[in-house]
Amino acid sequence: MGADDKLSGVTTPDAPFLHAARREPTPYTPVWLMRQAGRYLPEYRALRERHGFLELCKHPDAAAEVTLQPVERLGVDAAILFADILLLVEPLGVGLEFTKGEGPVIRRPVRTEAQVAGLTPIDVEAAVPFVFEAARRVRAALGGRVPLIGFAGAPFTVASYVVEGGPSRDYLHTKRLMYEAPEAWSRLMAILVDATARYLNGQLAAGAQAVQLFDSWVGVLGPEDYRAFVLPHMRELFRALAPGAPVIHFGTGTAALLPLMRAAGGDVIGLDWRVDLDAGWAAAGHDRAVQGNLDPAVLLARPAYIRQRVKDVLDRAGGRPGHIFNLGHGVLQQTPVEHVQALVELVHEMSAR
Ligand code: CP3
Repeated sequence: MGADDKLSGVTTPDAPFLHAARREPTPYTPVWLMRQAGRYLPEYRALRERHGFLELCKHPDAAAEVTLQPVERLGVDAAILFADILLLVEPLGVGLEFTKGEGPVIRRPVRTEAQVAGLTPIDVEAAVPFVFEAARRVRAALGGRVPLIGFAGAPFTVASYVVEGGPSRDYLHTKRLMYEAPEAWSRLMAILVDATARYLNGQLAAGAQAVQLFDSWVGVLGPEDYRAFVLPHMRELFRALAPGAPVIHFGTGTAALLPLMRAAGGDVIGLDWRVDLDAGWAAAGHDRAVQGNLDPAVLLARPAYIRQRVKDVLDRAGGRPGHIFNLGHGVLQQTPVEHVQALVELVHEMSAR
């Protein structure tokens, strides 16, 4: 089945993405890409010349437009809402900024017990109404073509930004807070669990049909730290999510953490590229669906090479129901758009059954 048939013929309840998330058979392997809306797309860069990143996020029409760009350009099997994992922490008053080139910066990081004690719970409904409004508009504009995925950062990854003030190599401030002030760490995580549950449930109520938790930097933790400082909070979060819609649980550098991520929760476990998909699926458990896991750097190479690597990922999935094709992390900014288009076509063509 070609991308055109798919776009015109499939209504959302029949969407391969939703079937695969439930480990039901699909006519081909559904594919979407983390960061499919973003700077590798010329139409996104054109908008960014005129508007700041946060400005785009806060204007539902703009956010909806950016969400739809890759759906139209690539023929992917799902849309992911254009937003950011850090929008939720802006109301903590930590001074969130997106600076050119540097990525996110938090001007007033939270590193001490006293600073954690000074935080107040986040009033999600008041803080990010624009995210929910964008979800409503996207869902209407999609008209059932493909499902809409909502998302949030997982509490560890979001906490790591709040504590470090930005990206970090070693996450030493975060680990020091965890080890030296475990009660303060728990309080910070509890604030984020509560806000994240409301944020995701709000997106689901506004029309998202699945949600993904991005625990992008959790791989800096060893299994024992995950067990002690992350797992109980993740369990709490999964329990607080509205039942029904599939939840994707993604992290990077997680080869040693997959059994614990599985124990934490998620219908679909997201795999990065540092693990073979078959080994990762075995570790996540065959009673879960998996998502992944082509190295995003492969998209810098020509389609003939991309084809070989897509084949490897599909072979490792072995036609087992419950595989959603994705990269092992987000699309890189340097990626040629034609290569991304080729990837989507290759996955559809090579997995057709
Ligand atoms: O996937 C999508 O297309 C939806 C949109 C989306 C964005 N951020 C838009 C964005 C998603 C799912 C995210 C999640 C996100 N944000 C994560 C988890 C995913 C991951 O990559 O691990 C993280 C860690 C962030 C925090 C963040 N926001 C960083 C590190 C950066 C800068 C560096 C970078 O990779 O772009 C951002 C900014 C950001 N978020 C941009 C976009 C399109 C670029 C902003 C710009 O236009 O300058």
